[in-house]
Formats: sequence, C-alpha cells, structure tokens
Amino acid sequence: MPLRSARAALALTIVAVTSGLAFAACSGGDALPPAKDASAEAASPTPEQIFRAIEPQLVAQCGGTGGQCHVNGTFASAPKWLGPPDKYASAKAYRGILPATGDPDDSILLTQIEHTGPSLQSNKDLFGRVRTWIGAELASSTAKLPSSALVQVNDGLNTIDLPSVGAKVTFSAQTNNDVITLSAIRLTAGKTAVRFKDPFFVVVPQKGKIVTDPTVNGFETGLVTLNAAASADIGTLILIRWQAGNKVKIVFKVLEAAQPNADAGPTGECTALDVFKQKASPAFQTDVPLVDGGTRSCFFCHSGGDDVAKNALDLSQLTTNPGAACAQARNYVNFADRGKSIIILNPTGQANPSHPVQALQASGPVVTAIRAWVDAEK
Ligand code: HEC
Repeated sequence: MPLRSARAALALTIVAVTSGLAFAACSGGDALPPAKDASAEAASPTPEQIFRAIEPQLVAQCGGTGGQCHVNGTFASAPKWLGPPDKYASAKAYRGILPATGDPDDSILLTQIEHTGPSLQSNKDLFGRVRTWIGAELASSTAKLPSSALVQVNDGLNTIDLPSVGAKVTFSAQTNNDVITLSAIRLTAGKTAVRFKDPFFVVVPQKGKIVTDPTVNGFETGLVTLNAAASADIGTLILIRWQAGNKVKIVFKVLEAAQPNADAGPTGECTALDVFKQKASPAFQTDVPLVDGGTRSCFFCHSGGDDVAKNALDLSQLTTNPGAACAQARNYVNFADRGKSIIILNPTGQANPSHPVQALQASGPVVTAIRAWVDAEK
C-alpha cells in the first residue's frame, strides 16, 4: 500500500472545553430596551454599526441582572464576552464567537443552548440580528473555509467524504470514557489531484458549546499537494470531554483541486536515496532497546516481525530494494518542520505513545543518522 504522504504532522491535543456556565440568576433580568433597526441606518452598515444596534438587547439578554453574567462576570465567573471597557471589542475577541471556520452557524453564540442563562435561540429576533452581525464580521475578515459535512464518529474506521474535491479522510476512532483518540488520520485524493492546508476538527455536541479551535484541534501541515489516488498522513488527535452523540466536521484553510504536482511522483520516490542507503539504512538495522525489555532493530519489526508495525511503516525491502523502503519512510517526513517528522519523533518517544521502542536520544547515533537522511530529502 504505497501511500504518498507529502507531510505528516502529529498532534496530541487537549481540548479546553468551557462547560456551559449556567445559572438561573443569569436569565436576562433587565428590561429589554427597544431595538433599533440596523438596516435602516445606512445602505450597508459596518459590522460595528450592526453590533452597536443590538448591543443593548444583547446586554439585556446575556448580561443578567446589573450585568453580573456576561458583562461583569461577577456571577459564577460567567465568561465576560461582553466585558468592559468595550463590549464590541470583547465580543469580537472572545474565542469562538467569530468562529475560525468562517461559518456564522458555528459561532458559540448561535449554538449555545439553554444553560444557566437563556439560549439566544429563545429570542428569534435577537438571534437573527446576532447572526447578521457575525456574518458581517466574518465577511469582512474570514472567508468561509471549505469543510466536510457534519458526521457522527463511530469506534473503528471512519470515512469522511470531501465531495467538493472528490477526496476523503479516513481515521480510526477509539473512545475511552470521555476521551476519544482519532488515529491514522489520512487524506486520500480521488480521481484528481488535490491541494490542502491545515485541517482542523470542529466538534459539535448535541448539547453545549461547539468547539472550533484550529490551534487546539488541528494540524499545521502547510500546503500539501497530492496526486490522484495518493494519500497523506495527517496524524493523531486526542479529544477530551467527548460525549456520546457528538458530531465532527473537518475544516481546511485550503482545500481545492490541483494541477498534478511534477515533484510528487505517484510512488513518492526518494530524492536522497544515497544518503538513505549510507546513513538511514544502517540505523534502521541497528538494535535498539525496547520498552518491554530486550532489543530489536527498526528493520526487524517493520519488515514483518510485527504485522502492525509493517502496516504502519513497511521497511521489508530495505536491503533488497532500498528505493521502495525509502519511499515508505519518506511518508513520515514532515517537510514543513523536519525535526517534527514522525520518523524522528517516534524513536525519540515523542509521537505514538504506544510505540514499543524506548525513547532514544535525539543526539544518539541512530537518530542522527536517520535525521541526516530526513534533512537531505527534497
Ligand atoms: C518492537 C517492534 C518495533 C521496533 C523495534 C520499532 N517499531 Fe516502529 N512501530 C512498531 C509498531 C507496532 C508500530 C505501529 C504502532 C501503532 O500503529 O500504534 C510502529 C510504528 C512506527 C511508525 C509509524 C507511525 C506510527 O506510530 O504508527 C514509525 C514512523 C516507526 N514506527 C518508526 C520506527 C523507527 C524509526 C524504529 C527504529 C528506531 C522503529 N519504529 C522500531 C513497532 C516497532
């Protein structure tokens, strides 16, 4: 299964979830001032003008009595997304209000449900106005990013289609109480070449706050071009506070059809095969200490000594057809940041926590020899 990965990145990730802070005392106590009609003010009001027009209503609905909820946060440390000195600046800056996906419907304000305070959805008029404001902000800053549909995640193999480019993302999911691990996340092109950049997962719970944070739930792959039918390994993601019934979608900074990339041969041939043979190959054949005791070489496990290992990284032709083994190893080179290549991070104990090798020194002979080849690949 010669997969073609231009870049691989692995991220062990923790989702900081702010649990819905909700107290009856936050149910909008103050009387609603009359709403101004933003659209009447100017032909096309600025996003700020739209916000200013709904600001009093928002404060009434979400600020709680005397502003103790989302304005001053004095009640139950409610998040101060309408906090002083300027409610507009606070709302814009609060994480998730203007979602990184560029899609207004992913805003935490619109997806928030009845919590200790009321849901915005309970006030249809205000809901519509807030949506208009968020849409206007996003239109002036972030384009709506390409995204998959929202899907359910099941334990085992999952496939998420990317119909706009005829590609798909596959991964294996495993839940353990409220932690879910998405591993072997891989994007495979369909009949045409695709280009993608920096995928991230958006988590949409049945109840509670949507999580759209590329820095926490995403990968910095840089721009990756894949030829038809080729695939790229993206990595592993661990999401905490996972609830049954959560859905996810994958959003990309870039996802588009591409011209076939002349550099990215379908077989992913190595460009530094000599260095591979001189440096990396002997390193792969050196015995290294195992977590469970004893020693083995990378070559031993990855040539069939361990089926799972060979499936992940097939070095079986290391001595008979080094070019083929090199192409396999190249799948685990991260061209954006070579020191963060999984082929380096795994032996140094910084990637797959269940990798059976004891963490080797980055400065030791095995890792420096592999690194010399990683640095030489183009
Ligand atoms: C005792 C057997 C064993 C040895 C020795 C071993 N590996 Fe692995 N390796 C595995 C297994 C098993 C997996 C698959 C782990 C998984 O899927 O969770 C793996 C996976 C990998 C992967 C793919 C990424 C991943 O975690 O799925 C890379 C890259 C890798 N190993 C590199 C190396 C290098 C480099 C060496 C030598 C320094 C080495 N391995 C030595 C068993 C081994």
